[in-house]
Parts: sequence; structure tokens; C-alpha cells
Amino acid sequence: MNIETQLIHAGNTTDAATGSVNVPIYQTSTYAQVSLTENNGYLYARADNPTRHALERLIAELEEGHKGFAFASGLAAINSVLALFGQGDTILTSDNLYGGTYRMFHQVYSRFGLNVNVVDTTDIEAVRAAFEVSNSIRAIYIESPSNPLLDVSDIEAIAKIAHQHDALLIVDNTFMSPYLQKPLNLGADIVLHSATKYLSGHSDLLAGLVVTKSEALSEQIAFLQNSLGGILSPNDSFLLIRGIKTLAVRLDRTLVNTQLFLDYLRQSKQVKQLYHPTLPSHPNHGIFLKQTKGNIGLISFELTSDVNIDQFLSGLSIITLAVSLGGVESLICNPASTTHAVYPEEERNRIGLANHLLRISIGIEYGEDLVEDFDQALQQAIIK
Ligand SMILES: Cc1ncc(COP(=O)(O)O)c(C=O)c1O
Repeated sequence: MNIETQLIHAGNTTDAATGSVNVPIYQTSTYAQVSLTENNGYLYARADNPTRHALERLIAELEEGHKGFAFASGLAAINSVLALFGQGDTILTSDNLYGGTYRMFHQVYSRFGLNVNVVDTTDIEAVRAAFEVSNSIRAIYIESPSNPLLDVSDIEAIAKIAHQHDALLIVDNTFMSPYLQKPLNLGADIVLHSATKYLSGHSDLLAGLVVTKSEALSEQIAFLQNSLGGILSPNDSFLLIRGIKTLAVRLDRTLVNTQLFLDYLRQSKQVKQLYHPTLPSHPNHGIFLKQTKGNIGLISFELTSDVNIDQFLSGLSIITLAVSLGGVESLICNPASTTHAVYPEEERNRIGLANHLLRISIGIEYGEDLVEDFDQALQQAIIK
């Protein structure tokens, strides 16, 4: 079955009691037991909820994994994955991750004795070398493409290295969604999402999803999901299922708009630096084409110093200055002062995350309206 059909039908069984074509919202915290020793398969909603289960089956099928798990936010999902590890274990991470993920590694889990080794995972030799100097690496954690620099790591090659050393590969697939990239098929062991973004698609809820490749990992994540308790509510599970149904049509439109934007930005004299893995100048352009459907709806860029950035951002009338991404509306943000403010400045400088870098999430509005909005704000902000 093609993914466009799966998005609408996978995991989503018609309600047996009524024939409702949508899974009902089972808004309950507990279930009546049949007797002291018997129940109907449901005891308490932290562990089991039919609406959440429908979503979990859906994402497992979309990512072609063993089991799916839904959480109250992307960070709640990441928390349950990191809880697989313990004191003395080492996790290798990319040097560019979402700021909240960086904070969880460096300011939370490091307090419990988890060692975090940071490496440029776009450099396969650097990944290999990291294993040569440490025998406690239990997992590699990457975003590909990364937030916000859109660095691309070779998922297949990294998975091979990880497995040679009995380590797991965990991939944050938020920026792509299973419509554009399927990390488990490339060798990853766990894929996760901030489903707040493309999967939900309407900037109206927070959610996180995890999909495991093996039964053994499913058992461990199920245990942690129930033990840590950061599950997604039935209502948000329902909304997320609804959002996922239109993922393909939303992304198809977003990617057409992204191409328009790229064409505009490439010829603009005010664009100093453009980050997008579809550009032949991107250092991992070839790997991006090999492991994805070949496009992504986010663009990062730096403007020249003759642009008053404050004035430019205030001059936008359609594109909204706001963090987050992947919704139907176009959003623009300044990662250094918001999503990545937690990175120490010297670390931001080291990885090339400039203070004035801007990241735009292209929505599904009429493309020319977006480019016109951008252009009028830019022209007015040029310092004469
Ligand atoms: C790549 C990535 N992963 C994880 C997260 C965290 O997700 P949430 O905000 O849903 O907790 C974000 C949030 O922006 C993100 O961009």
C-alpha cells in the first residue's frame, strides 16, 4: 500500500460498536473490571487507551516499525527513549540538535551520570573514531536534517558503525516525517518525532511519537512509557490522527512553495548564506537525495549586514514570527535567541549557528503571496 493511502487508513479501525469511521475519543481514566481477576483488556488509561492505540498503530505502520508509542510532547518522547540508558553509559550525539534536546542531554541526563559525547555526525570518520576511544557508547542520537542548520548525516553508514559496536541508532525524524524519510528502513533502531510539527500540521497541539524496530525495544519503551507517564491524551491522539491524514497533500504543497522560495532567495543580493540540502552546494546533498524523497519544507539563511533584521521581521504580514514549524501557516524564527538559546555562545559559533540566522517553515498558503510578503519586508528593511 502506498503511504498516501496508509496515512488515511492505517491503524484506524472502524468502531465495532457503532460503525463510526473515526476512532472515538475514549475520554476515560479507568475501565470497569469484570471481576477481581478479569477485565476487557483495559485496566487504567496511562497504560492503555483505544484512541491512543489507534494513533500508535498508525505511526508504527507509517515508519514501518514494530510498535508505536505516543507521548505528551516531543521532549516527553525523547525522555522515555533516553531512560533506556543509565549511569556510566555514553551516548554519541550530533553537534547540532534542537535546543531542548541538547538541554535534556547536557543539563538533565548528565546529572544522572550519562556521558554525552558530541561529534560531527556528518563526518563518518569522526563517528568511527569516537568508537575507537570509548567502549561505553550505547547509542548514537542524530537529527537528519538537523535543526536549524539542516546538516545531513548518512543514516545507513552510521547504523552500520553503531551495530558493529552493539550500539543503537536513534533518529529524530521531525523535520522529514515518514512521508519524506524512513530511518528504520535505513538501519535505525528507534525513530522519534516531535509530532507537534508536520504530523499534526496545524500548530494546535503538542505531541511526541516513538517507533521501535524490534520487539525487545518495544517491550522496554512500553515499560518506560507507563513508568514515566508522559502519555498523549485521548483528545490530542484523535486530533493527531486527523492531522496525519492530510500529511501528504500538505507536504506536497509546502514543497512546491519551498522551491519558489529557494528560487527567490538564491537570486537575492541580501542573502549571504543559504542552507538547504536540495542545493548542489550543500555538503551532503548526495546523501540527502539517496536517503530521502529529495526535499524538505524548511530553509535556513543569513541576510547581509545592510538589512535591519528587526525591521524586516516586523514588516512581514503573512509570514509569522514564531518558533515551531511544520504547520499549514508559514513561520519564521531566529534560533540563536529562541530554540537554541540554551547552547553556549561559543558552541553556537563553533558549529556555525550565527546569531542572525533565520529559519523559515514554509506553509501551504499561495506561494507567490509568501514570496511577495518576504520581498516587501526585505526591501523596506535595507539600510540605505
Ligand atoms: C527536531 C525537534 N525535536 C524535538 C523537538 C521537541 O518537541 P516538542 O516541542 O514537541 O516537545 C523539537 C521542537 O521544536 C524539534 O524541533
